[in-house]
Amino acid sequence: MTVSTESDVSKFLNSIELLLVERKLGEVGRVSDTEVSGDTLRTRIELGFPCNSAHELIRAQISEALQAETGAKNVEIDLQTKIVRHGVQRNLKPIDGVKNLIAIASGKGGVGKSTVAANVALALSREGASVGILDADIYGPSQPHMMGIVGEQPVSEDGKTMLPLRAHGLQVMSIGALIDPDQPMVWRGPMVTSALSQLTHQTVWDDLDYLIVDMPPGTGDIQLTLAQQVPVSGSVIVTTPQNIATLDARKGLAMFRKVSIPVFGVIENMSTHICSACGHEEAIFGSGGADQIVSDFDVRLLGQIPLDSRIREQTDAGRPTVVAEPESSVAAAYLRTAWQVGAAQASQRTDHSSKFGNIVVEGSK
Ligand SMILES: Nc1ncnc2c1ncn2[C@@H]1O[C@H](COP(=O)(O)OP(=O)(O)OP(=O)(O)O)[C@@H](O)[C@H]1O
Ligand SMILES: [Mg+2]
Repeated sequence: MTVSTESDVSKFLNSIELLLVERKLGEVGRVSDTEVSGDTLRTRIELGFPCNSAHELIRAQISEALQAETGAKNVEIDLQTKIVRHGVQRNLKPIDGVKNLIAIASGKGGVGKSTVAANVALALSREGASVGILDADIYGPSQPHMMGIVGEQPVSEDGKTMLPLRAHGLQVMSIGALIDPDQPMVWRGPMVTSALSQLTHQTVWDDLDYLIVDMPPGTGDIQLTLAQQVPVSGSVIVTTPQNIATLDARKGLAMFRKVSIPVFGVIENMSTHICSACGHEEAIFGSGGADQIVSDFDVRLLGQIPLDSRIREQTDAGRPTVVAEPESSVAAAYLRTAWQVGAAQASQRTDHSSKFGNIVVEGSK
């Protein structure tokens, strides 16, 4: 073998770029227990993000790279996923039962945040993580509908806390489950603030790796509450390819940056249109908008989801595409996006409290 010491092998392993997420193994995983004995190399790898369906692929890539680098004849890799807790804004205490809280946001309404949040949450769960979804849209909750649990109400065992609802393997909480959906919601700022905080903190989340938060559009009261009162470990911006949406997405992105919440990147929804009659794919809204934000703000393009009428039909019917048609190309697009989101979280430092400044959002009430 050309590389023989255990520390050389570990160093090499850490430098391998995982094709699945285009990140170095050392950035999204932990290498330990590396052993070199004769022609055999053994190592243990803990990936920091869920990708059960890709473990074999990753194992094969790493084995091949190790054999080529070291000349080892046998490579034995104990590959597992271990999702850990990451840092949140300074002064905020993590929520019991939640390791990582990821906000899915946009500047503009109607770009598909709720649909993306539902499908990415389901994809993370399918890949082996324990996942919850919190509908933070106090004015227009959509998760009860998308998850197919309209009319179900959470149970409280002690009169103070609530058990989340369950749907498709996820833990779900939404203001929509607590109020009459036919009544218009007239909330004042302070009520909105306390509603979101209560939904987040008074739900008994059961050992979640990720709590995906479906945000309302814009940069108003709810966003401010989230930044000041809810411990957030990362955020994702959803945009459509049109210029105007990307302008709004820039605002959303800038807002998270301002309050020192890491922005993992951008998901471009309705990237291309897939014709339901012939399957032809076309960039009807133009292309390049998300690429532009990615280069201007130095963030990643985490995924591109096509405009496909089945996405709307399935989500409207309470069975998002990842569960309704798990083998479809659309579900695969959500899965790839979920790997990217998980990997982005894994690449964050487990404690970054020292780099946070004061949380001040200008122009807020
Ligand atoms: N990729 C897609 N292809 C087809 N339809 C989609 C796609 N993404 C979302 N939709 C549909 O577009 C509509 C708006 O989506 P969604 O409710 O997720 O947007 P939103 O950004 O959460 O909106 P709001 O700002 O009101 O919260 C829904 O009817 C949804 O089914
Ligand atoms: Mg929504």
